[in-house]
Amino acid sequence: MSHSTQARPATAHKGAPLKGRVRVPGDKSISHRAFMFGGLASGETRITGLLEGEDVLRTGEAMKAMGAVISRTGDEWVIQGTGNGCLLQPEAPLDFGNAGTGSRLTMGLVGTYDMETTFVGDASLSKRPMARVLDPLREMGVQVLRAAEGDRMPITLRGPKHAAPITYRVPMASAQVKSAVLLAGLNTPGVTTVLEPVMTRDHTEKMLRGFGAELEVETDANGLRTIRIQGQGRLTGQVIAVPGDPSSAAFPLVAALLVPGSDIVIENVLMNPTRTGLILTLQEMGASIDLLDRRSAGGEDVADLRVRSSDLRGVVVPPERAPSMIDEYPVLAVAAAFAEGTTVMEGLDELRVKESDRLAAVAAGLKANGVECREGEASLSVTGQPDGKGLGGGTVATHLDHRIAMAFLVMGLAAEKAVTVDDQTMISTSFPEFMDLMTGLGAEIQTDRAA
Ligand code: S3P
Repeated sequence: MSHSTQARPATAHKGAPLKGRVRVPGDKSISHRAFMFGGLASGETRITGLLEGEDVLRTGEAMKAMGAVISRTGDEWVIQGTGNGCLLQPEAPLDFGNAGTGSRLTMGLVGTYDMETTFVGDASLSKRPMARVLDPLREMGVQVLRAAEGDRMPITLRGPKHAAPITYRVPMASAQVKSAVLLAGLNTPGVTTVLEPVMTRDHTEKMLRGFGAELEVETDANGLRTIRIQGQGRLTGQVIAVPGDPSSAAFPLVAALLVPGSDIVIENVLMNPTRTGLILTLQEMGASIDLLDRRSAGGEDVADLRVRSSDLRGVVVPPERAPSMIDEYPVLAVAAAFAEGTTVMEGLDELRVKESDRLAAVAAGLKANGVECREGEASLSVTGQPDGKGLGGGTVATHLDHRIAMAFLVMGLAAEKAVTVDDQTMISTSFPEFMDLMTGLGAEIQTDRAA
């Protein structure tokens, strides 16, 4: 199951139009939280549509190691949770593989427990900054017993006898940091308050409420959100249907826009407004994306997306839109490479600390494939070649980053020359069905022999 074994390159070629109806796997953010909150709540949680990617399965393993009972029956995952405040000390380090969300949220969830917990991850995760979560946890009384230089993993935490409730203003636009503090608040007496100046995905707030947490949100005239959670309350198991992941849908969606003659439908995609920035941006670029059968499912908006190949034009993407499309910039940059004119993306500082330095990785991948682009400290501008003429022919360094791999395979489907990614094994962290789904639509992607 480890993606860090042997690299396997893959190559995408320009080919026939993409056609068909597909379903992408369940939303990664909701799937992580479903395992966590189900594992923590009293009684039974039943989950359908869960993303069975490596990242999420590792969160499930971590919850099991702390006392939750988790099994899969047919299409359903069934969890018997421990009850809030009743997680057990794991016997071994918790291995989160590639997963920032799994590790950071779990640090919040268990950091305040009066026990020792060690967090380890792969080479990519071990480079990522964890101070953003450890800093508020320290304020709550959590000891960081061990950490690699610069507050990186491996990390060992030990909680206090009783954690202190804090008011914490999240210093960067990060749903993971917001969530870690709120989850720490679950095991803390009194009210923990998070101030969020820039709204990020709100799955933690919505789902915790669904599980019965006393959580309230107020938004002031400047958009500052104040989120208060009452600690040590009871959480009760829920039935959860996980909608399709818009961040995964982004790949077949952009592929269908770029490959001439394509016409596809992607069913049951999450349309939470904190996640739809890419669709809005592509529509501004001239994309034909119809939202069919908009409906509500399990407390979230979902829709089927009909996508037809389109002539795109460059736009300026405003920085304040970044949180609602933060994982989509690699594939947006690929779309921009086929648009008329220049697309300017700003406010991208958080891209530097994702599974890879995504700003550098995208710019390098575009340049390797003949695309004119400029990388700034926190910005990227890409000048497109509408017919893809002269583009492609390069090999992209993926740096253990699933979204870099998928984005550049999409590029290869529309570029004049094939595009190779140096590794595709880590795609299984978020989208194990990617190759089958894309080739099922008619895409020509070959997995090459192990490098
Ligand atoms: C996520 C939050 C985002 C996003 C990640 C999932 C979450 O990270 O990039 O893929 O589920 O909370 P940040 O909080 O670092 O922005």
